[in-house]
Amino acid sequence: MGRLEGKIAIVTGGADGIGHAISEAMSREGAHVFVSDINDAKGAAFVEYLRGAGRQADYVHCDVAEDRDIAALIATAVDKTGRLDILVNNAAIAIGGMPVYEMTDEQWHRLIAVNLTSVFRGCKYALPHMIRQKHGSIVNMASAQGHIGLDGWTAYAGAKGAVMAMTRQMAVEFGPHNVRINSISPGTINTPMNEQVIADLGQHVARAWVKMHPIGRIGNPEEVAEAAVYLASDAAGFTTGIDLRVDGGLCVTPRFVPDLV
Ligand SMILES: NC(=O)c1ccc[n+]([C@@H]2O[C@H](COP(=O)([O-])OP(=O)(O)OC[C@H]3O[C@@H](n4cnc5c(N)ncnc54)[C@H](O)[C@@H]3O)[C@@H](O)[C@H]2O)c1
Repeated sequence: MGRLEGKIAIVTGGADGIGHAISEAMSREGAHVFVSDINDAKGAAFVEYLRGAGRQADYVHCDVAEDRDIAALIATAVDKTGRLDILVNNAAIAIGGMPVYEMTDEQWHRLIAVNLTSVFRGCKYALPHMIRQKHGSIVNMASAQGHIGLDGWTAYAGAKGAVMAMTRQMAVEFGPHNVRINSISPGTINTPMNEQVIADLGQHVARAWVKMHPIGRIGNPEEVAEAAVYLASDAAGFTTGIDLRVDGGLCVTPRFVPDLV
C-alpha cells in the first residue's frame, strides 16, 4: 500500500520541475493528484502519462497569480472527490540576478503575486475544507534563499522568507484542527527554472552552484519530492510548522560566498 493511498492532492506548477516530480511521487504513492499549471500542453500530457500508468490524476489550468484560478482549482478537486487532503503550493518564478535598485516595481509585484500571494490564496481556499474534515496537510515551497544571502535575489528571498513565516503562523492556528502546515527549502535543484538562470547569467553560475553545496552536486527534483511525500503523509502526523531543508548542506556552510561566482 502506498504512503498516500486514497488521499486527494493538489500540486501547483505541477507540469515541470519540482512540481512534476512531486505529482509523480504522490500519485505513485496512491494519491489522486490534481496537477495544475499554466503550461496546459505539458500538464495535460503529463496527466495522460500518469493515467496510462494506472494512476488517478486530473489536469486543471491554474495561474497562481489569479485569485479566481486558485479558487476554481480547489473547487474542482473538492467537487469531484468530496475532499482535499494535500495542497502543495509549489509554483513560483525566478526574477532576480540584479541589485535591488535595478528591480522595477512591475517585477517586484509580479514576483510577489506568483511566489507569495499565491500561497496565501491557496491556503485561504483549502483550509475551510481541511478544517471541516479535521484532516489536512499543506506543503509550501520555500527556498534555501529564505535562509541565506546571495547577490541579486532580495525580492525572491523576501517572498520565500515570508512563506516560511506564514507556514509557522498557520501551523499554530490550524494545528488544533489537525491540519499540518510545513515548508520545504530546496538548495539548488536541476530544473528548468535553473536552466533559465544559467541561460541568463552564464555557465560560471552552474559551476559555482556545485561548489556551494557540501554534498558536491546540485539536487534532483525527485529528492525534493521525497520530502514532500513524507510531510504530506500520515508518517509526519506529529510534524507541523517546520521548514525541511533539502539543500545538500548549503545552508550550513560558509562556502555560500560571492567569490565563488
Ligand atoms: N530549482 C531550484 O533550485 C529551487 C530552489 C529552491 C526553491 N525552489 C522552488 O521550488 C518550486 C519549483 O521550482 P522549479 O525549479 O521546479 O521551477 P520550474 O520553473 O522549473 O517549474 C515551475 C513550474 O511552475 C509553472 N508556473 C510558472 N508560473 C506559474 C503560474 N503563474 N501559475 C502556475 N504555474 C506556474 C511552470 O509552468 C512550471 O511548470 C518554486 O517554488 C521554487 O521557488 C526551486
